[in-house]
Amino acid sequence: MEKSTQYILENKQRFLDELFELLRIPSVSADPKYTADVARCADKVAEHLRNAGADKVEVCPTNGHPIVYGEKLIDASLPTVLVYGHYDVQPADPFELWHTPPFEPTIRTTETHPDGAIFARGSCDDKGQMFSHVKAFEAMMKTDSLPCNIKFMIEGEEECGSNNLGPFVKANKERLKSDVILISDTSIIANDTPSIDCGLRGLSYLEVEVTGSNRDLHSGVYGGAVCNPINILAKMIASMHDENNHITIPGFYDKVQELTAAERDELNKAPFDVEAYKRDLDIDEVWGEKGYTTIERTGIRPTLDCNGIWGGYIGEGAKTVLPSKAFAKISMRLVPNQVSDEITMLFQKHFESIAPKGVRVEVHPHHGGEPVVTPTDSKAYKAASDAMTKTYGKKPIPTRGGGSIPIVALFEKELGVKTVLMGFGLDSDALHSPNEHYGVFNYFKGIETIPYFHHYFAQG
Ligand code: BES
Ligand code: MN
Ligand code: MN
Repeated sequence: MEKSTQYILENKQRFLDELFELLRIPSVSADPKYTADVARCADKVAEHLRNAGADKVEVCPTNGHPIVYGEKLIDASLPTVLVYGHYDVQPADPFELWHTPPFEPTIRTTETHPDGAIFARGSCDDKGQMFSHVKAFEAMMKTDSLPCNIKFMIEGEEECGSNNLGPFVKANKERLKSDVILISDTSIIANDTPSIDCGLRGLSYLEVEVTGSNRDLHSGVYGGAVCNPINILAKMIASMHDENNHITIPGFYDKVQELTAAERDELNKAPFDVEAYKRDLDIDEVWGEKGYTTIERTGIRPTLDCNGIWGGYIGEGAKTVLPSKAFAKISMRLVPNQVSDEITMLFQKHFESIAPKGVRVEVHPHHGGEPVVTPTDSKAYKAASDAMTKTYGKKPIPTRGGGSIPIVALFEKELGVKTVLMGFGLDSDALHSPNEHYGVFNYFKGIETIPYFHHYFAQG
């Protein structure tokens, strides 16, 4: 172990330079304009795996963006870890809100990152975290200290629904055979408070369309006499939370797993500074479902949020018009044992039932994903916990992550393998927002911790 730790120290600058090079590639999976960049990024990841010493490295084509695979099998009697990560990133818009360009990484210090943070789209989610596995692997390979078999599956469509990953996993069950899946794509509580997410929320994402009259109308001539789809849509969306911020869709909570008082107490023991949270977001008050704490609201409770809303005239100046159509994108975060297709159907039925006569509504489902809970009593969880205890000097706290990584449930279903979510980012690293960043400390802490995971897991 000392040898790989030493190797990491000696190669610090190069490890940073190589991450920077990866961050300069705008691998935005959602926007076809960037398809060539996404492919270039996949090739780069493959090249790094190959140089680090992986065998059978392949950029596997799919119906969408490619999946990078690589492996190092040293001994069939040793356990095998499958590392999953993603090299694609969220769109960087709105560009004008970035203090430095999203694809020109720069290091600046922040309140939470006094040692400096790398500002770039994808720095935390997930290039920085994913690449720490590649560099940890290199360190183990170059110092002859890889203690178990390792496989890499790095995808390029996580941020747009992982549509082609399911078929890939189904078609490659033998190749992906492993004892555990290891993912670094979540957060810790703080740099001095390590934690491990033991659950992720599911997702049901859809778009709605409300149509009134057959064309836009003069708002003076027709206003007040004809249904306005924007007014109606706003009202419909607002009606989906009651005065306690409970979601009003009938049946929505039917399958929600309620935690026991003891489990909730345990969850709320995690340190959480609501004043720092409010300060970071510049808000006067937190919001949410009555009867639950902020930790519970993001960890174990389902939600419904409008992600975007549009219609009518949004250009310069005023145009007096009663729009023919209004649209919204809506996400629902799900918890065990909700099922995304069922929730989508409940939403659709409810949305249609509350639409007044003067409009027609359509619901277009997008992607979904199932919620997961990962075990805390497994050999793999223990290895992750011991690894973090070793490098942070503190035992990590089990937490629940509010985001979604739909593939985790799919891995369990298709491969029968459980996941460990050993993330190294911070929730405040502005993932999916302008000025996303990743601590230099966090990047190297990841590289330092990962070899310990393999070491303890192989021993266990
Ligand atoms: N890495 C995130 C998920 C995440 C972030 C989990 C922080 C826990 C803590 C992932 O890249 C992500 O953004 N997932 C999407 C899923 C979607 C596009 C299907 C999400 O949660 O919105
Ligand atoms: Mn991610
Ligand atoms: Mn993401």
